[in-house]
Amino acid sequence: MDTKELFQNEISRRRLLINAGAAAVGAAGFWALTSSKLGLVNTAEAKEGPTEKWPWPYVKLDPDKTAEIAYNEWYRVFCGAAVINAVFSQLREKVGEPYKSFPVDAFVFLEGGMAGWGTVCGSNAGANIVSNVIIGPRIAGPDCEHGHTVGSDMMDWYANTALPTYQPKEPKQKTAIIQTTSNSPLCHISVGKWMQKSGFSLGSAERKDRCARVAASVTHKLVLDLNDWKDGKFKPKSTWKPGGTVGITGQQNCTECHGDKVPTPPMAKK
Ligand code: HEC
Repeated sequence: MDTKELFQNEISRRRLLINAGAAAVGAAGFWALTSSKLGLVNTAEAKEGPTEKWPWPYVKLDPDKTAEIAYNEWYRVFCGAAVINAVFSQLREKVGEPYKSFPVDAFVFLEGGMAGWGTVCGSNAGANIVSNVIIGPRIAGPDCEHGHTVGSDMMDWYANTALPTYQPKEPKQKTAIIQTTSNSPLCHISVGKWMQKSGFSLGSAERKDRCARVAASVTHKLVLDLNDWKDGKFKPKSTWKPGGTVGITGQQNCTECHGDKVPTPPMAKK
């Protein structure tokens, strides 16, 4: 049985469970249709549903095509959801469930470094959601036992690459969009450095197109890496380690934000 059939079986089983739950509610009478009863049905669904199981199947995608989808999707759902949807919309067609049930648009909140707070760039967050769903638990670091370094590698690449790298086939802005290197995976720093060098404001059409192109650039690299991973050829370029040698989660270029007065976290185990 291939993976697709496996998932389809899972889904029929899940439908049976939902129907059984619905019948129970019906027998208990109309008053029983309270949120708590429906909650029970939903819990059963959540426990037995195929979405509990991950990683999810991946088939190789075309990096250029996927980046172009991300570029256009940015204008609908912004960076994070654009990256996710560019990949998952195609896997919905090629694989089916569980991608069909994935609420891609819900990740619109990643915009502006999460709800506009300028923290991690939504493109990085979106790429990490995708790679984590596809590659599985867990996180980062070159020597991670699951070899899942696609997400961590993305943060490093993003920080150290002049972005955007992707040139859309039909750019919505004809003005030249300059490239800047953020030295950071953060939205605020990435956008801020670009704005400072280009002179364009946050609300300008150019800044928006720049971020759409950044989402497309990240998507392009993400698909290249996932395709390599699928072929067993993925080699992380980043040497970054969580916690590094300084005893705190964070990027290792401490002076970028702290200047020459980098605070020292306690190193001894407590
Ligand atoms: C993206 C910017 C940024 C980077 C990079 C960064 N920090 Fe920070 N860090 C901050 C901010 C902002 C605070 C909060 C400072 C405050 O509230 O005064 C902070 C707080 C801290 C604190 C808590 C103590 C304090 O004085 O506030 C420690 C310890 C710390 N950073 C260590 C580091 C180390 C070590 C590195 C490098 C591995 C690092 N940071 C990299 C932005 C950064």
